Amino acid sequence: MLTTLAIAGYRSLRELIVPLGRLNVITGANGSGKSSVYRSLRLLAETARGGVITSLAREGGLQSTLWAGPERFSRAVLDGEFAVEGTRRKEPVSLRLGFSGDSFGYAIDLGLPQPEKPPSRFQLDPIIKRECIWSGPVLRPAAMLVDRRGPAIHTRDGRDWQAVPQPVASFDSMMTEFSDPRTAPEMITVREQIRSWRFYDHFRTDAEAAARLPQIGTHTPVLSNDGADLAAALQTIREIGDPLALDAAIDDAFPGSRLDIATQDGRFEVTMQQHGLLRPLKGAELSDGTLRYLLLVAALLTPRPPALLVLNEPETSLHPDLLPALARLIARASTHSQVLVVSHAARLIAALERENDSRSIVLEKHFGATRIADADDRDLPAWKWPAR
Ligand SMILES: Nc1ncnc2c1ncn2[C@@H]1O[C@H](COP(=O)(O)OP(=O)(O)OP(=O)(O)O)[C@@H](O)[C@H]1O
Ligand SMILES: [Mg+2]
Repeated sequence: MLTTLAIAGYRSLRELIVPLGRLNVITGANGSGKSSVYRSLRLLAETARGGVITSLAREGGLQSTLWAGPERFSRAVLDGEFAVEGTRRKEPVSLRLGFSGDSFGYAIDLGLPQPEKPPSRFQLDPIIKRECIWSGPVLRPAAMLVDRRGPAIHTRDGRDWQAVPQPVASFDSMMTEFSDPRTAPEMITVREQIRSWRFYDHFRTDAEAAARLPQIGTHTPVLSNDGADLAAALQTIREIGDPLALDAAIDDAFPGSRLDIATQDGRFEVTMQQHGLLRPLKGAELSDGTLRYLLLVAALLTPRPPALLVLNEPETSLHPDLLPALARLIARASTHSQVLVVSHAARLIAALERENDSRSIVLEKHFGATRIADADDRDLPAWKWPAR
């Protein structure tokens, strides 16, 4: 389980250390930084899949995602006596992402390349300056297990350090490029842990959404990100998952309705028998909210729960009356996976807050930077970034 998430230099997250529990709800006003937390967690997940540089480029590159405020605020600015003024940058451009749990921690530091001669056309690609894996919740020199500085990786060997002979490219994470189970087993553990994280963000439910149409069905223990394999995923829950929980989730939200997966020539389609109708409704006839709820049911009742499940604004297009049922499903999922929900639906937040073990993280802006509301520095987990 992750106990700490740390982000520095990403949009309004100048430096944010987030303590995490089993079931976490991230809330806050518009613009407080919720989506930025979600996106930075996705970026972190991309590092273990080899896609962090591409994902950053798609967001407009490091320069655009970088914290746009000053490096420091003077006392006079904080006291309201002076306006925020730009000063010459003293510190290097840096985007840092990291997390830790009880057993391991990981952090990555991305920066800009030195100008080259002849100039590279990839001059705007960020480069990975440092990556570290350590044991325990906080980085300490004695707890460091794998240490990458620029192209060089060192692994701990008892009291000594061993250099990995092959250098890594500036745009590759050590996690995708180096996997030796003998010298760095913890690297593989951390990589596989990150790769198992699952993200769901705004399923398509419009008239042409793939989830509405019959699709070739195979065993689907994990719903895809676009939800196209919804019918197969629901049938998989029925056959190898928890069919009673599935029926209960449908009845909880739509009393008297029954879900049926129709199959024809290997194609699976969601149909729903609704109270008062003479024939079941097909996927194409379901309302946006009904379809979105079914997608969330399939995601949350997965027979193969991930280590971490992240849901971004799952309330979109759901009627407030459905939110308590959704909260119950989320709470159930949190008994198998660590769950993080980003939401601004008051009813969903309130229902989740009533669950045992849930933790709400309210974000707010202070001088343009995101911070956790009502958090004393002493309440925040200890965190130390690796230096360059
Ligand atoms: N490079 C940057 N530096 C500083 N702040 C930035 C930067 N880029 C965006 N922001 C600000 O970061 C804030 C956080 O945006 P974010 O999308 O995370 O908010 P949100 O909590 O998801 O809001 P909403 O509820 O409206 O979706 C916005 O107010 C935006 O103006
Ligand atoms: Mg948002």
